Amino acid sequence: MGLMRAEVMTKPKRMKTKRTVSKNRARTKNTKTNRMPNIATELPGPKAKRILNKDHKYVSPSYTRYYPAVIERGQGVWVTDVDGNVFLDFSAGIGVVSTGHCHPEVVKAIKEQSAKLLHMSGTDFYYPNQANLAEKLAEIVPGAKNKKVFFCNSGAESVECAMKLARYHKRRSRYIAFTGAFHGRTFGALSLTASKVSQRRHFAPLLFGVTHVSYAYCYRCPFHLQYPACGVACVKYIDDVLLKKVVPPEEVAAVFVEPIQGEGGYIVPPPGFIPALRALCDKYDILLVDDEVQSGMGRTGKMFAIEHFNTKADIYSIAKGIASGLPLGACVSRAGIMDWEPGSHASTFAGNPVSCAAALKTIELLENGLVENAARLGEVALERLSELKKQYEFVGDVRGKGLMIGVEFVGDAISKEPVKDRRNAVVFESFKRGLLLLGAGESAVRFIPPLVINEQELHTGLDIFEQAVRSVFRVR
Ligand SMILES: Cc1ncc(COP(=O)(O)O)c(C=O)c1O
Repeated sequence: MGLMRAEVMTKPKRMKTKRTVSKNRARTKNTKTNRMPNIATELPGPKAKRILNKDHKYVSPSYTRYYPAVIERGQGVWVTDVDGNVFLDFSAGIGVVSTGHCHPEVVKAIKEQSAKLLHMSGTDFYYPNQANLAEKLAEIVPGAKNKKVFFCNSGAESVECAMKLARYHKRRSRYIAFTGAFHGRTFGALSLTASKVSQRRHFAPLLFGVTHVSYAYCYRCPFHLQYPACGVACVKYIDDVLLKKVVPPEEVAAVFVEPIQGEGGYIVPPPGFIPALRALCDKYDILLVDDEVQSGMGRTGKMFAIEHFNTKADIYSIAKGIASGLPLGACVSRAGIMDWEPGSHASTFAGNPVSCAAALKTIELLENGLVENAARLGEVALERLSELKKQYEFVGDVRGKGLMIGVEFVGDAISKEPVKDRRNAVVFESFKRGLLLLGAGESAVRFIPPLVINEQELHTGLDIFEQAVRSVFRVR
């Protein structure tokens, strides 16, 4: 998004720590320490400025930086920048460090594996923890145990795999995807992505055969209807119009869907949407691909977000939180679908043994309490943010599951006009106060802290967010 360049930053406002501290104490009596962000220099500080200058000179300008955070170290939900400023991280490295920054057990697993074997290439050789991780993923991904796993290095690659696999298995060429979707930036994945035109501009022609339809964004229903009276009109449209007038259903290999839309604005569809899609796919023998890259690995208080909708997909794309920060992606499907021949798809670095070791430890930690923590603290955060919505008209919508929460800002409740500049200002003001947040969609802020966060840290972050909101919207 390239919100503001480092050069235009002003000196940070100090936090009103007194009020925040006392509030937090009242909320979390049993917690021993009350760690707070600590912004000791102007932002960016002197060391950060030097790195920013170098970065601006040598690094691709295509990245979307919201603010100049130059991070040196991280532990749990806390990160420290090169000037010693301490921030509370509610971005989790864009939803990646599920177990927190440098979880000691993950670091230990990485160290042990690094000392044994760094790389061998699962494409041509075998090693134990790739097979072990595949077995584990086959167990935890929804559906029958009889599954197979293709390993890759990123979310986009896991989507590419799903696209190729769907074509290969079905011998059909077309796909259906949703407006607001983000599936990655490689050519195949980008062809499905429809979150911002800046992601697609000047890259045409994209892949043939992708048709986009409206996601179930009930707060801004494209059909101007209300759920459940609408009868899930957005899925009905695919059946009644798209597949009858535009796209022959027997040519469609797969429907790609995020069970909770991520980059598009942290949009939670109504309960009937994903099941209706499943029924549509069954009706026309189309594969349903569940992109869990952002919503998976415990983020939403269940291991995979699609579990909230009691629905199973045919193919799953997974990445981000799977290995707590090491690059790894996976595409998982029923064994009967992953029926391609040797040589049809592979990647040299995919399923790297060190990443697999990190993933096995990550899953163990998720299963031993972190998914539960996400569910519990997600409720706490939603309750508190919903209060904010009751209080202020400009907080248009608060939505989420577990620790995947979006707050959408609007001009007013009637027009629901997106207020992108103000959203950006809230993100920026939070940064100045020591909280790292990211935007999502046109006018929303996303909350995706590491799943190790405790209640006190959660309230500290929400306190800062509220201060930033009040400052930007000039309310008390
Ligand atoms: C739902 C979803 N799919 C795919 C991707 C692409 O992942 P990556 O950036 O690792 O290629 C993302 C990234 O944000 C995502 O949120």
